[in-house]
This record gives sequence, C-alpha cells and structure tokens, in this order.
Amino acid sequence: MRAQRFDIREAVRADAAEIAEIEKLCFSSPWSLENILREIEGNALARYIVCAAGRRVVAYAGLWAVLNEGHITNLAVHPDFRRRGVGAAVLEALLERTRRCAGLTDFTLEVRASNDAAVRLYGLAGFRAEGRRRGYYTEPLEDAIIMWLRKE
Ligand SMILES: CC(C)(COP(=O)(O)OP(=O)(O)OC[C@H]1O[C@@H](n2cnc3c(N)ncnc32)[C@H](O)[C@@H]1OP(=O)(O)O)[C@@H](O)C(=O)NCCC(=O)NCCS
Repeated sequence: MRAQRFDIREAVRADAAEIAEIEKLCFSSPWSLENILREIEGNALARYIVCAAGRRVVAYAGLWAVLNEGHITNLAVHPDFRRRGVGAAVLEALLERTRRCAGLTDFTLEVRASNDAAVRLYGLAGFRAEGRRRGYYTEPLEDAIIMWLRKE
C-alpha cells in the first residue's frame, strides 16, 4: 500500500465547505458553513488548522485563545481517515503551534462522556478529566467531561 502524505496547515476560507462536510458526518449538531467562516475569518481569538491529504481536507481542529489558555472548540477526522494517527497528529500540531505562536500554556475542552475514542486520544496527549458539566450536550442529552492539560 502506498503511504499517504498528510499536510497540516492553518485553515483558510477555501477550507470552510470541506470542514462543514466533516462536521455533518461527525456531530449530531454540526456547525453551519456560516459559523465556520465566522470562526476562520471573523473571530480574532480563534485558531484553526486543517490536515490535508493532497487537496482534500480530512481533519481539522481549533481553539479560542483566551489569555494563556486554549479552549479547544473542535477536533474531527473524516470517517474514512480514522485510526491512522491523524487525530493525534492534528491535536499535537494545534498544541505546539499555539504554544509557540500565541503563548498558550494550558488547554481545556469539553467532551461527551460516552466519547471513548476522543477521551482516550486526549488522555494520550496528557489531558486529565477535572470535572463534569451535567446535561451539557443535547441530541442526545449527555454530560460533558471537562479535561485540562496544564503546563507543569
Ligand atoms: C476522536 C477522533 C478525532 C479520533 O481521530 P483518529 O484520527 O481516528 O485518532 P487516532 O488514529 O489519532 O488515534 C489516537 C488514539 O486515540 C484512541 N482512539 C481513536 N479512535 C478510537 C476508537 N474508535 N476507539 C478507541 N480508541 C480510539 C486510541 O488510543 C488511538 O491510539 P491507537 O490507534 O494507537 O490505539 C475521531 O474518531 C473523530 O473525529 N470522531 C468524531 C468527532 C469527535 O468526537 N471529536 C471529538 C470532539 S471533543
């Protein structure tokens, strides 16, 4: 099998439609194209990156930079490209770039309590569960686990 080349780079306006498609495939309440465009172009606190296989966007991740903290808003990998290390690589790139370019030291996120794949992935990156938000998600109603990665 031919090894596939992945490039991780900053998200731009032209990526928004493919990001929206991945959103629809991954989440029960996906962000709209308008939301995504606003995040990429109109939110000064937001930082988004994508992972591309050739010209195709296969994953993305982003956060809001608030003082020294990164609040991770989203991380998703197209279903056809999962279990190849893409999610872990995109998360690592997001952490590394925003530490270097935005001076972030600590990172946090919410994740569905039943989302074992994501909880495991974040755990491997050093995130630890520090709390729970009851009924945070709808469709279906579910708690969020709050995770943090803090500078040692
Ligand atoms: C969670 C998600 C981003 C993982 O992406 P991925 O590219 O498949 O993950 P990776 O291949 O980098 O896996 C890294 C590690 O995460 C864990 N993991 C990933 N998918 C898993 C699964 N389906 N079941 C159990 N563990 C899993 C494993 O420990 C894995 O390491 P391993 O393959 O060496 O065992 C992907 O499943 C996804 O997009 N899900 C839908 C969107 C979502 O839930 N996003 C998180 C919102 S908070």
